[in-house]
Amino acid sequence: MTDRVPVIAIDGPTGSGKGTISRSLAHKLGWHLLDSGALYRLVALIAAQKSIALDDQRGLAAAAADMVVNFSLAEDAEQVFLDGTDVTTQLRTEEHAAAASQVALLPLVRAALLLRQRAFAQPPGLVADGRDMGSVVFPDATLKVYLTATPKERALRRYNQLKEKGIDVSLPAVSREIAERDERDANRKVAPLKTAEGAQVLDSTGITPEQVVARVHSWFAGLDQSAS
Ligand code: C5P
Repeated sequence: MTDRVPVIAIDGPTGSGKGTISRSLAHKLGWHLLDSGALYRLVALIAAQKSIALDDQRGLAAAAADMVVNFSLAEDAEQVFLDGTDVTTQLRTEEHAAAASQVALLPLVRAALLLRQRAFAQPPGLVADGRDMGSVVFPDATLKVYLTATPKERALRRYNQLKEKGIDVSLPAVSREIAERDERDANRKVAPLKTAEGAQVLDSTGITPEQVVARVHSWFAGLDQSAS
């Protein structure tokens, strides 16, 4: 499947800019976008709505398999719908992000989301954003990028993003929350956050999103040329 449809896998820690870069790259290329973090956040949201405990692996895996989700991408802004209801703003809260990183520890939940994620690889191509896109979900991706930035810069970006959305947070709280999520994501047993084999590492500290998109695009264009 992945050898027919080109996939650009963009992995990295929270606040590395993956979301922004993936959305604008998908827009630039006219490709589909997989925001895999949103799937984990949706499972966390359903857990809160239906009072499913965050360690109820079977209950959460069933929710992950059954949820009816739609994404829409206009320009580079994404909207997420659960059962036809727009849940975009709800999903972005730190509460659901923290719960998402807990449900993401569960192997049955990850397994339930695996095929759903692979189904996003449709012509003309897919930009896949997450933690294990290059290592587990699309190991044959055309291009794998590991995007990172210093912890200080990542915390500041996340803080500004949340403020822009009108979410009331403090910078020390965001820094703490990011450090906890990084720790959980990097040290879990299943599909931990790591640099996938063959991934290009890109440190986005001090460079603009436009420059990052241009760099990734030029890597992809270079691959295209060497294949023809
Ligand atoms: O990317 P985002 O911050 O929306 O992801 C929320 C959480 O979902 C992450 O902290 C991580 O624990 C989990 N996640 C994951 N694998 C992915 C994407 C997200 O485990 N591919």
